Amino acid sequence: MRQNLVIGNWKMHGSRSGNEQLLAGLLELLPSSLSNSVVAVCPPALYIDAVKAQIADSVIQLGAQNICAESVDQGAYTGEVSAKMLAEFDCKYVLVGHSERREYYVESDAVVANKFKQAQAQGLTPVLCIGESLEQREGGDYIAVLTAQLKAVIDAVGIAAFNYAVVAYEPIWAIGTGKTASAEQAQDVHAAIRDLFSEHDAAIAEQLQVLYGGSVKAANAAELFAMEDIDGALVGGASLKAEEFSAICNAAE
Ligand code: PGA
Repeated sequence: MRQNLVIGNWKMHGSRSGNEQLLAGLLELLPSSLSNSVVAVCPPALYIDAVKAQIADSVIQLGAQNICAESVDQGAYTGEVSAKMLAEFDCKYVLVGHSERREYYVESDAVVANKFKQAQAQGLTPVLCIGESLEQREGGDYIAVLTAQLKAVIDAVGIAAFNYAVVAYEPIWAIGTGKTASAEQAQDVHAAIRDLFSEHDAAIAEQLQVLYGGSVKAANAAELFAMEDIDGALVGGASLKAEEFSAICNAAE
């Protein structure tokens, strides 16, 4: 049985006092133990240490939004944060391949694959994000687009690496737009993703957590999580509100 996983991607939001308030709210609203799900938050790197202290001994796990693609623990890479540094602060998850990074920071599939590798080299679980644009969706060839994004990473890291990874399907047209894929639309894609993995390895396909992302909120979470191949969510905007995010987490639990 796959557990549900709900990850809050705070993106470039927050402040010291705002984060404290948000986490205090979450700690109050989430149950003190979880049995069917895992909850994590990915703050901006600068706040990781303070968040780590505040969520210590709670059900909330820590993740990062980005990681250096180079295979070094430290070095002359201005502005970067290495996998080793994230591991030192107990980050369990790291997002790789988010569409905002692919678009605004021109991250190629090769860079995404390297980030995936660096994460695993330090024991972090990469959350590989894939997604199609509205144009690609309307053009009808979106499964081919998603397959190419996955295949580029599978070819680079090997299928066995997906024993310790998570995939997040995030249609770009649904991110931050308020426009969610319907639960059926998402399920169709999630099933296609799992089929692709089962062509390589049935056991990996069966245990792989495939999250949905794109305008997930309290009002649509339960319907999404009821789908057979949806194993949780990557949540942006709604992860910045304690009541919304905790309601999503409770639906996953
Ligand atoms: P959203 O963002 O929930 O605000 O649509 C999701 C994401 O980008 O991970």
